[in-house]
Amino acid sequence: MFEHIDAYPGDPILSLNEDFAKDPRADKVNLSIGIYYDDEGRLPVMRAVRDAEAQLLAEPAAKPYLPMAGFAAYRDAVQSLVFGDDSPARIEGRIATVQTLGGSGALKVGADFIKRYFPASHVWVSDPTWDNHRFIFERAGFTVGTYPYYDEASGGLKFDAMLSAIRDLPAKSVVLLHACCHNPTGVDLNDAQWAMLIDAIKARDLLPFIDMAYQGFGAGLDADAFAIRELVRRNVPALIANSFSKNFSLYGERCGALSVICESAEIAARVLGQLTSAVRANYSNPPTHGARIVARVLTTPALRQSWQEELASMCTRIARMRSAIHARLSGNVPDAMLARYVEQRGMFTYTGLSAAQVDVLRERHGVYLIRSGRMCVAALNERNVDATARAIGEVLSKAIA
Ligand code: LMR
Repeated sequence: MFEHIDAYPGDPILSLNEDFAKDPRADKVNLSIGIYYDDEGRLPVMRAVRDAEAQLLAEPAAKPYLPMAGFAAYRDAVQSLVFGDDSPARIEGRIATVQTLGGSGALKVGADFIKRYFPASHVWVSDPTWDNHRFIFERAGFTVGTYPYYDEASGGLKFDAMLSAIRDLPAKSVVLLHACCHNPTGVDLNDAQWAMLIDAIKARDLLPFIDMAYQGFGAGLDADAFAIRELVRRNVPALIANSFSKNFSLYGERCGALSVICESAEIAARVLGQLTSAVRANYSNPPTHGARIVARVLTTPALRQSWQEELASMCTRIARMRSAIHARLSGNVPDAMLARYVEQRGMFTYTGLSAAQVDVLRERHGVYLIRSGRMCVAALNERNVDATARAIGEVLSKAIA
């Protein structure tokens, strides 16, 4: 029966993370997957999460199915965090939000929804993008193309080429964009560039699908949502996937949401119904635990304050690690490859190392990066930064010699 099933070659990120777990070397360093680790190399349980969880455990509650669209208080808290409390679209009831299984679940529910109602549209992603973007949309039946994004020579953005490619797309094309802390490059648009891009999206009647997996890791919780709020302000219909995996350190709880900005409350009600039907067809309804934690934290002022402070301190630690590796690599890597460690934002730096160099780093030095050269700087700490910099210096000196 299953003789014809071919082997899964594995996922470029998750399979590598599994390989890391099996690696017996004590001094191995995992800079592959996008996970924030603290100074001790531990996955933190945030104080606000711990406190909310303790409160919830003290209030024994039955565990019925959640509604297909998810926990109401969570969906409301998502809207307030992503769009802002005073968002006109939110006040007018023009946003349809469903709770999803992390950001990936939001992308999948959104992909199914778009495929049903825009069957002729193609999806366009940045070159490069998170590997799973292409996979999710292709599996949902889309043809996926790329628009120019990253400039390896400068370690920055090819904005003019990006804009002109987007201006050439057919109407109703779906354009996948990263709200902040672009994965894998760490290179974002500035506010003026977003404004120009949104002009083009509106003029061409394109459908933006914004992925916001790192809210709070760039310029701050509100500033990171600039593009989303600008879309609302300019009355541009859009889909937004957001995730609490990183900013709540709740990876395994699968807490995310999909929101669709609609033209009217009446349309939003119908869109919500169809998002709900996509949830039912995939997994019926989402899980309870993580959503209750997030809703409790976001709606309890003291917990929310504590969460925001801890998130800010995580960002400060990442910035410190960016400076630390920058200082240690200075003089050992070409100047063109150095500035990006401090200039790129969020959890990642796109190092410019080749797949072959990444293989040597992993095999010889036990330092794991994604084969695209993406490094998770949020997993650097005082104990592994020297060894990491030494290993990179050595790999590059061999390449140069
Ligand atoms: C990553 O990019 O490393 C994370 O978002 C984890 C994942 O699922 O790929």
